[in-house]
Amino acid sequence: MSAHKIIIAIDGYSSCGKSTLAKELAARLGYNYIDSGAMYRAITLYFLRHHIDFNDSAKVMEAIANITITFAFNEKTQSSDIHLNDEDVALYIRDMIVSEKVSQVAAIREVRSFAVAQQKRMGRKKGIVMDGRDIGTAVFPTAELKIFMTADPEVRVMRRFKEMYATNPNITIDEVRHNLELRDYIDSTREESPLHQAKDAILLNNSSLTRQEQLDIVLEWTKDRATTKVAG
Ligand code: DC
Repeated sequence: MSAHKIIIAIDGYSSCGKSTLAKELAARLGYNYIDSGAMYRAITLYFLRHHIDFNDSAKVMEAIANITITFAFNEKTQSSDIHLNDEDVALYIRDMIVSEKVSQVAAIREVRSFAVAQQKRMGRKKGIVMDGRDIGTAVFPTAELKIFMTADPEVRVMRRFKEMYATNPNITIDEVRHNLELRDYIDSTREESPLHQAKDAILLNNSSLTRQEQLDIVLEWTKDRATTKVAG
């Protein structure tokens, strides 16, 4: 038996712990981890900084032509930093101002074509874990392992609150809840690649799982998919 590199697609609602799992999984497997949501956030940041009218297709196309997004591996954090036109924007893309607008930006067809084309290129050599909303349905429909993550709504609110509170102590639980509800609604009802579970995705509800437990479960699933019998 030998292991070959595969594509692991992780989708689900906001704050289900997708990136925590994806990051740990990639580190254990020696795979690349790509946070596709960070790309939509970086594009949103660019649009906000340049006052781009989201409803103006021509302006949106013009803006996209000026955007380059790259991921650079950071030895210290053992994960990839996202760069928008050579600027490390990791800190800015989690701001509430970006969170409030990102679902609207991610619903724009031109934005999605741009991001999805780049995501597909990043998966060419396999050995990648990517998380998002449409990874198993639109970006990598033939991924060897697809996971659809869920968690109870209040668990998700508290997770996001703790994450945001670390950089913004003025944030309230209600603000976080409202933002999550709104994004769930937009992400799952938009016309372009709405969030839904791919038919062949495995459902993982991690409300009462520890990080280690969920990682162990998924490593088992990975073993099944990445191992092939060598002939002879
Ligand atoms: O995962 P996140 O919360 O950082 O994602 C930010 C937004 O981007 C989210 O509201 C939905 C959108 N998104 C998307 O439409 N498709 C993806 N593959 C990833 C994120």
